[in-house]
Amino acid sequence: MTLVSASQLSKSYAGQGQVLNGVDLTITKGSFECVMGASGSGKSTLLHILSGLMSPDAGEVQVDGASLHEMKDRTLSQFRRRRIGLVFQDFNLIPALSVEENVMLPIQLDGRRVDVAELELLLDRLGIFSLRKKSPDQLSGGERQRVAIARALYIRPAIILADEPTGNLDSVAGEALCRLLSELNKDQNCTILMVTHDPRVAAVSDRLHLLRDGRLLEHFETQHSADFVSKTYLEMMGHAPVSESAR
Ligand SMILES: Nc1ncnc2c1ncn2[C@@H]1O[C@H](COP(=O)(O)OP(=O)(O)OP(=O)(O)O)[C@@H](O)[C@H]1O
Ligand SMILES: [Mg+2]
Repeated sequence: MTLVSASQLSKSYAGQGQVLNGVDLTITKGSFECVMGASGSGKSTLLHILSGLMSPDAGEVQVDGASLHEMKDRTLSQFRRRRIGLVFQDFNLIPALSVEENVMLPIQLDGRRVDVAELELLLDRLGIFSLRKKSPDQLSGGERQRVAIARALYIRPAIILADEPTGNLDSVAGEALCRLLSELNKDQNCTILMVTHDPRVAAVSDRLHLLRDGRLLEHFETQHSADFVSKTYLEMMGHAPVSESAR
């Protein structure tokens, strides 16, 4: 069953030309997928559009059959808060709130009850339990990243959109996060779409999409092998642009 369906997305920035140019993407419920592509190819832009935070110039995004960019602002904010777990590069943590307050905020905004035991378990799994009373300002980049991840996971979203979630983590914390994402996907049936530059991280996902020249090339199964991901990535990205007929 399709959870996210994007069709013919395009986006340009002033002075930047066309960043996305006809992106089609379908994400099946329960899948764990990944997007790779050169720096500046538009991966973050794509995730921002899929999350409803940014509107495309053209094209449409449907999540669970609802068209994101046709929703009124309030409906969209509520939809995002309840259904979409965002882990973005710039974290968006609120410095005036403690770590645990940041993590609880989306649930509280929604008027829902906070389950303290569940919250503490999640903080513990992410290795930030001892930091829970601190302000994000007092944390390292990697620690802040894990707080942002906790906040995204705590709402039990229908989909997690993660932009280089391991980007600021050391290899031990990065592996722990990969394991956590994989468990969430397998055990809780949480759908995940993640952007990464690291073939070892991509290999944790099941399916890989490559972004090049403003479009997604044909996706492939990662086979859970970093070597295979690396080799296929180079093969597919190194060649001349894929023609329409070959897609
Ligand atoms: N707000 C903006 N205004 C103008 N140009 C922008 C803006 N945001 C991004 N760009 C440009 O659009 C292009 C795509 O940016 P984007 O952040 O989506 O790339 P990316 O694939 O996520 O790169 P990276 O791997 O380095 O994170 C880049 O050339 C970037 O400079
Ligand atoms: Mg980016």
